[in-house]
Amino acid sequence: MTKRSITEAIVRGKRVLGRVDFNVPMRNGAIEDDSRIAAALPTIQWLVKNGARVILCSHLGRPKGKVVDDLRLTPVAQRLAELLGQPVTALRDITGPAVSASVEDLTDSDVVLLENVRFDPREEANDPSLARELADLADLYVNDAFGAAHRAHASTEGVAHSVPAYLGLLMQAEIDALTHLLDAPDRPFVAIVGGAKVSDKIGVLKHLLPLVDSLLIGGGMANTFLRAQGHAVGKSLVEPDLVSVASELMQSAAVREVEIVLPTDVVVAPSIDATAGEVRPTSEVGGDSAIFDIGPESARRYAKVIASARTVFWNGPLGVTENKVFAGGTAAVAEAVARSSAYTVLGGGDSVAAIEQLGLADRIAHISTGGGASLEFLEGKSLPGIAVIPENA
Ligand code: 3PG
Repeated sequence: MTKRSITEAIVRGKRVLGRVDFNVPMRNGAIEDDSRIAAALPTIQWLVKNGARVILCSHLGRPKGKVVDDLRLTPVAQRLAELLGQPVTALRDITGPAVSASVEDLTDSDVVLLENVRFDPREEANDPSLARELADLADLYVNDAFGAAHRAHASTEGVAHSVPAYLGLLMQAEIDALTHLLDAPDRPFVAIVGGAKVSDKIGVLKHLLPLVDSLLIGGGMANTFLRAQGHAVGKSLVEPDLVSVASELMQSAAVREVEIVLPTDVVVAPSIDATAGEVRPTSEVGGDSAIFDIGPESARRYAKVIASARTVFWNGPLGVTENKVFAGGTAAVAEAVARSSAYTVLGGGDSVAAIEQLGLADRIAHISTGGGASLEFLEGKSLPGIAVIPENA
């Protein structure tokens, strides 16, 4: 069964409410990375081309139900207008008489952007009154906000109960890419999971373990696995209460003949802001130092496993990339993933940033726009923003 796609709807002259994820990184009022705006273009362009009256809606940041001037969507509307090549009117409210009047004035193919939907406390509460007000603005609703699909909020879930609801093109592309990993990966299937904490990734590790051939682990979370293997890891970040979980995962991998690959050498330093690191075998991390990256020998081993893969999923950095002294492992893995001829899928900001720094993003089959959402999808969870869209008849 497939979900209803907006491309099956007749939208000419109709008011279409499009939930997009324009939650872009901002610095001093300027957009630092517009990838999420660019990723939403295919649906918006399709709506414009087909004569819809487009009402876009997004969150930006976490204003917690209050108006925060720095989180207004005006700069986003400007950037969207540039990318789209037509005006995009930024409205000052989410719903209410002024918004209704602007929507009434729309002609076919016009585009407006509602104000940051999280300025209204009813959004995150999934309050039916806000869902109803949003639904009343439109004849149809399309959800293209994959990055927020794991949130059951008024604009991502509630509204879809009150107006005919469809999936957007980005949402469909995300579902297709991630479903391919879960259902029909070409083998060998290699997952690379990094990041600081095992606790953030435990669900995805458990769900992917029976599906992959190799699991490469890096980042701070590898330390908990190294501890479970009996290594002394000095002052490194470890989650002591998850050492037994790491052991269980390694036992389960052995039974399933899944290879869990951990670093055999690491970059250590006295502190995270050190100006130089020292490469040591994993078995010789001194008591006064901490692990901040995988070592060069490990990076070569990881690259070799990646080179043999036919499907690759990567989420999370292999070291503390904020300090360039500890960015080598992540860069080496990025290079290997980008050079691989496998079907490659990336989720999560740091892995994507590492590939973009190399200028190799166009070599990746699918770069997910969802951090938390892609992880929850790969944990096998049902995402509310997708679940609420009706199946095709
Ligand atoms: C994201 O950046 O992952 C999405 O936009 C969701 O944002 P949130 O974690 O604040 O809900």
